[in-house]
Amino acid sequence: MESTPERADVRRIAAEAVSAGDDTGWFEPLYSAADRGEATVPWADLTPNPMLIGHAPTGTGTALVVGCGYGDDAQYLASLGWRVTAFDISPTAVATARRRFPDSGVDFVVADLLALPDWRFDLVVEIYTVQTLIGDARDRAVAAVAGTVDAGGQLLVIARDNPGHEPRLWDLTETEIASFARDGLEPVDIERFRDDEQPPVPRWRARFRRVTAADSNG
Ligand SMILES: C[S@@+](CC[C@H](N)C(=O)[O-])C[C@H]1O[C@@H](n2cnc3c(N)ncnc32)[C@H](O)[C@@H]1O
Repeated sequence: MESTPERADVRRIAAEAVSAGDDTGWFEPLYSAADRGEATVPWADLTPNPMLIGHAPTGTGTALVVGCGYGDDAQYLASLGWRVTAFDISPTAVATARRRFPDSGVDFVVADLLALPDWRFDLVVEIYTVQTLIGDARDRAVAAVAGTVDAGGQLLVIARDNPGHEPRLWDLTETEIASFARDGLEPVDIERFRDDEQPPVPRWRARFRRVTAADSNG
C-alpha cells in the first residue's frame, strides 16, 4: 500500500485495531463500507496482480488463493487451468468475488487464515495477506499458509519488502519471508526486486516447494 490519503486512512484504522488487540476485525467493515460507496479498498485494483502474471505455473491440480479479496488473482489462476479455491475473512469481499466471476469455476469461500480447516493444495498463492498481520498473528499466519501446501506442492508468496530487521505492519523482513520454509517446505527461489510503481516499491516474490517422501529418500 502506498501513501495516498485513502491508504493512510486504512493504515490508521489497521494500526488502531491491532493495538486494540483485534488483528483482523477491520477488514469486513472496510469492504462493507466500500460496498455502500463510503470507502475505497486501496489494494483492490480489479485486475490480477501484475507481479503474479507470468510467474504462476499452469496446471490442472488444485490451487488455493489466500486473502483473495475481490477475486482477480483466483480468476487468473483458473484461466491457467487450476481448480481454484479462494478464501477471505470478509464475507462482503467473497460475495463480490462470486458476483464478479460467476462462471470462473473458482470456489470462493469465507474462511479465516488463523483458523483454517485441514486443507492441502498443489499450488498456494499468498499475496499481501500475511503482511497485514503482526506479532503472534503473523507467525500463526505463516504457519497456516505453509501448512496448506500438499506434498510435492508449491507456494508462491508476493509481499512488500521490509529492508530492516524489525517486523512491522505492511511488509515482511528477509527473516520473515524465509520463515515460510518449514516442516518440509523448502525455498526454490526468493527474489527481491523493485516494482514498476513511481516511486518503485521493494517487493518479495518467493517460491517454495514441499518435498515428497520420495524426494527425501532419494
Ligand atoms: C491487503 S489485502 C490483499 C488482498 C489480495 N490478496 C490482493 O493482493 O489484492 C489482504 C486481504 O486479506 C484478507 N484477510 C486478512 N486477514 C485474513 C485472515 N485472517 N483470513 C483470511 N483473509 C484475511 C483481507 O480481508 C484482505 O482481503
